[in-house]
Amino acid sequence: MREIERCFHFDPLNHINFPSQRLEYDLRKRVFGQHAATDIVLRAVSQFMADPEPPKPLVLSFHGPTGTGKSLVAQLIARNIYRQGDRSSHVHVLTPTQHFPLNTQVEAYKVQLQQWIRGNVSACPRSMFIFDEIDLMNPVLTDTVLSLLDHYAHTEGACHRRAIFIFLSTVGGEALVQQTLALVKEGRDRREFSLSVQWPPRGMKWSQVDFFVPFLPLESKHVLMCTLAEMQARGLVPDMAAADELINDMPYAPQEGKFFSACGCKNVALRLSTGGRHAEPQQG
Ligand SMILES: Nc1ncnc2c1ncn2[C@@H]1O[C@H](COP(=O)(O)OP(=O)(O)OP(=O)(O)O)[C@@H](O)[C@H]1O
Ligand SMILES: [Mg+2]
Repeated sequence: MREIERCFHFDPLNHINFPSQRLEYDLRKRVFGQHAATDIVLRAVSQFMADPEPPKPLVLSFHGPTGTGKSLVAQLIARNIYRQGDRSSHVHVLTPTQHFPLNTQVEAYKVQLQQWIRGNVSACPRSMFIFDEIDLMNPVLTDTVLSLLDHYAHTEGACHRRAIFIFLSTVGGEALVQQTLALVKEGRDRREFSLSVQWPPRGMKWSQVDFFVPFLPLESKHVLMCTLAEMQARGLVPDMAAADELINDMPYAPQEGKFFSACGCKNVALRLSTGGRHAEPQQG
């Protein structure tokens, strides 16, 4: 139990203390235009963290176009579980192209990956593993990870059932764009979104995944919200003229209608730092 105490920032014996209201506040306040995703995540994480003896690890798979908030939501989950947030030594982010670049080494990676996951859950059962660009991972390694996530999966005494695994990818993103486009063209609210696309995305119907979470393409009004939030985070007085300039400068798609930001809210912070007019520092 000592190990759990070390990695947790709330009473380790009483998981009901997980601050689900704080997670809800973060998701509602910081994530724009992703109602379906935030509802699923809030319900899934709160239920999982309230269960001291979950039967299997929580496995979430986030899908959607680039810059729509997949990494942000993973970060917000970490922030509400660990005192150090996503900088906690119990939050592990793996990017296959970076960590497992050589197909010739796949057998060695497989052994390392198993040992590494096992070591981490032994040190902290409530560890969190985020696999970015999971679609680019060698299928042998994907199978290795998935084999650890079934009910009753134990490897040499290490038990993964209290851990959280999150897979991130843009797979299925285009289908989500098409469905959101249909809604927007009809003048309907994106909150009316309900999955009617090929779901879960082709090639990812993994039985170990508890929830396939859809992230929709963002519209210019969401990019505006990201811009104003970024200004506020920097202690600047929100400047509508500068924000308008920035969002008008972003690329939009599809060619006909230009309904969605081609890179979501990605690069908003960078553009604020480097381009166009700059907001004034806040007084006081
Ligand atoms: N829906 C959103 N609400 C608020 N901020 C957002 C949203 N989507 C993206 N952002 C902001 O835009 C930047 C990029 O977002 P993020 O890294 O979460 O995108 P992503 O979906 O993981 O993209 P990729 O597939 O390219 O990794 C971050 O600074 C994030 O805070
Ligand atoms: Mg990301």
